[in-house]
Amino acid sequence: MHKLTKIKTRNYTVVNGDCLDYLGQIPDNSIDLILTDPPYNIAQYSTGNINLPGRSALNNDLAEWDLIPIDPFDLLPDFKRIIKPDGNIFVFTSYNLIGKWHEAFDSEFDTFQFFIWHKTNPAPKIFKNGFLNSCEMIACMWNKGHKWNFSDQRNMHNFFESPICMKPERLSAPKHPSQKPVRLLEHIVSIASGRIPKIDDCRMVAIVFFCNACIVAV
Ligand SMILES: C[S@@+](CC[C@H](N)C(=O)[O-])C[C@H]1O[C@@H](n2cnc3c(N)ncnc32)[C@H](O)[C@@H]1O
Repeated sequence: MHKLTKIKTRNYTVVNGDCLDYLGQIPDNSIDLILTDPPYNIAQYSTGNINLPGRSALNNDLAEWDLIPIDPFDLLPDFKRIIKPDGNIFVFTSYNLIGKWHEAFDSEFDTFQFFIWHKTNPAPKIFKNGFLNSCEMIACMWNKGHKWNFSDQRNMHNFFESPICMKPERLSAPKHPSQKPVRLLEHIVSIASGRIPKIDDCRMVAIVFFCNACIVAV
């Protein structure tokens, strides 16, 4: 990948480049929230795009970047090093990797939980031969005394419903199959940063990895 480039504003810095290179440069105990969307490594199981009669083929997520293997054990030392003792880690992942995240991280943190994003408008199962893929998993890790904004019992289910990104939120250039809705990200940040994020009062330090850029909000 190309050299790291940075865009700085008053509230945040966007670092563009290989996030694994940048990870090593982040100071110890400096991050309140790691929110990351690494490749799910599901393309290896795909049987290819689905041809539909009289319509364009259904994209079955065959992205090249998804074929690069992600090993949670490789990320553990740096994640542990940079996260503050009261910080939180949220990792989007999939059925095939959730056990690996658990294996690597569970014994290193007091709590390991999973959270589900339920998509209210998933791609239809045209041939009605299985469940719709309407859920995404997020692995969550923290230690005792972590920053936490527990609003109320109804709101704190490990489950959030929202549509997948649609226009105008959905970017068309570059188009990305895994773009996450801002509403979902706001929900996670407002719980796990211990404060309701406001643009002008953003002293939280968060990193968002594996999103073609790494965002560090200060
Ligand atoms: C599951 S997708 C997440 C996409 C993200 N939600 C977005 O809307 O941009 C994983 C992304 O990580 C990127 N990626 C993979 N390895 C990377 C690396 N070492 N550094 C930076 N990005 C990487 C891939 O190109 C892909 O865009």
